[in-house]
Amino acid sequence: MSNYDYKIKVFLEDQIQQISQPNILEFGVREGRSTKIFLDLCKKKGGHLFSIDVDDYSNLFKDQNWTFLKTRDDNFEFLQEKLPKKFDIIYLDSIHEADHVQKIFYHYYKFLKIGGQFYIDDISWLPYLKSNYRDNFYCEINNKETFERLMKIYNNNFDNFDIYFTFISSGMCRIVKKQNQINQPKKIISREKSFKNMFRKIIKK
Ligand SMILES: C[S@@+](CC[C@H](N)C(=O)[O-])C[C@H]1O[C@@H](n2cnc3c(N)ncnc32)[C@H](O)[C@@H]1O
Repeated sequence: MSNYDYKIKVFLEDQIQQISQPNILEFGVREGRSTKIFLDLCKKKGGHLFSIDVDDYSNLFKDQNWTFLKTRDDNFEFLQEKLPKKFDIIYLDSIHEADHVQKIFYHYYKFLKIGGQFYIDDISWLPYLKSNYRDNFYCEINNKETFERLMKIYNNNFDNFDIYFTFISSGMCRIVKKQNQINQPKKIISREKSFKNMFRKIIKK
């Protein structure tokens, strides 16, 4: 089993097995690895999968449980006409940049049912650090910024959703919606660099 498949199995698949007739929205298809997992689940549970990608992957599967739409994930007006109003699962695996993730998350949060799950792929920067097994500057910086942005969003939404992370492979975030309200991100003001903490460190030596 690949690292990706293992991550999906333990963090995502096991979570969504219980949902009957799941309505799933996926952004980013490419090889169709996630698409296949969602589609198998929809077939088993009588659900439907909507997959969005800028490139045409409409021939990847022929299945009555699948609708493919070739467009950008932020083509909001177009997608509003084509998509149902409520989803059990939303999975974001298109552009792994903090601003884009924030834009997509805030727009589609209202389309998630209460108790629904919003997954954001690629939030771990550790495999991408210099000399680590996936050494890659773009992924290191963007995955870390995405993780930190999610922390800022959560910092002002403790009562509105729960948040979980896995750091298996390139990591993944799961957000479970508790209520419809959603607040803007809030800066995290840490006491890490305070005199009090410097003093604490000196005393510890
Ligand atoms: C990392 S791949 C997705 C991998 C896929 N989830 C899988 O498991 O095989 C990212 C995909 O996002 C698509 N993409 C990039 N920017 C996009 C956008 N703004 N809207 C929709 N799709 C986008 C790319 O064409 C590419 O197919």
